[in-house]
Amino acid sequence: MATLDGRVAVVTGAGQGLGAAEALALAAAGARLVLNDLPGPGLDAVEAQIDDAIVCPGDIAEWSTAEALLAAAEDLGGLDILVNNAGVLRDRMIFSMSEQEWDTVIRVHLRGHFVTTRLATAYWRKQSKINGAPVYARIINTASEAFLLGSAGQPNYAAAKGGIVALTLATARGCARYGVRANAICPRARTAMTGSLMGPPPEGPDPLSPSRIAPLVTCLAGPAGERITGEVFVAHGDVVAVLGPPTVRAAFHATGDQWTVDELTATLGKVFTADPPSPGFVCSETLPLAAYTLGED
Ligand SMILES: NC(=O)c1ccc[n+]([C@@H]2O[C@H](COP(=O)([O-])OP(=O)(O)OC[C@H]3O[C@@H](n4cnc5c(N)ncnc54)[C@H](O)[C@@H]3O)[C@@H](O)[C@H]2O)c1
Repeated sequence: MATLDGRVAVVTGAGQGLGAAEALALAAAGARLVLNDLPGPGLDAVEAQIDDAIVCPGDIAEWSTAEALLAAAEDLGGLDILVNNAGVLRDRMIFSMSEQEWDTVIRVHLRGHFVTTRLATAYWRKQSKINGAPVYARIINTASEAFLLGSAGQPNYAAAKGGIVALTLATARGCARYGVRANAICPRARTAMTGSLMGPPPEGPDPLSPSRIAPLVTCLAGPAGERITGEVFVAHGDVVAVLGPPTVRAAFHATGDQWTVDELTATLGKVFTADPPSPGFVCSETLPLAAYTLGED
């Protein structure tokens, strides 16, 4: 028996790239699929490769699209797995970014993750109360290293992805009692979104194939995911890494009841001496985990 036999999975942005690879992998593991993307030939081509998949085209940031996805999952027996993956880029430095570029990226990524999560968790909570026991419920969200790095040319995208990590944690904590397991992945893969950055694939196996990311999603969606929640994974080529939580680097205590500006200035002035300063709250440890995915040896 495949690990996901009898399970029903929704995948957003499933018409190409990572979403398509993840949907195909979940189907290969036995899941029945509800596929979302904007209407188009990509979605139809993925549907054609999966037996009995239901297609729900539409803008994932629309409440009605999320309602249709949940209804389709119920037609297949009930939602078990939600893979939030749909996304777009509108790259621009912060000082040049238009309102539209900001709103589009925040809307598709952050609101797009919210509406599906909102409806899925309400559904699972209700099922859990009816059953009197936790249900099988997996959410795999899609964040990005852009958030970890504070990607300078992608302030909208980095902010949306940071929001998705926070949404993942809040969901994991708020819905654990109903059986919900929520995790986020930061993938790296050669897709339409990253093709211009990463260039054409090499001859032979592509270490940046989206299919390299799909096993992590299938694993988190499966039985092993029962004991994994509120985690953030980075996946590149042959590497899967799990991030630790942010740590307190240093704590400073006032000599009196509270800090004065002068005392704080003197204290922090001894610690932050670099000129010019560089951003401190940046995680670049993930970059060299699979350096060849950056075109390095
Ligand atoms: N490829 C990478 O290296 C990489 C790195 C970090 C994060 N990600 C994230 O992975 C996810 C998938 O990206 P990808 O690389 O496969 O890109 P992609 O462009 O190949 O696929 C994204 C899909 O989302 C769909 N989509 C866009 N707006 C939508 C909307 N409003 N409603 C429904 N579907 C919509 C697109 O039509 C497309 O099929 C995204 O969330 C992206 O931010 C990718």
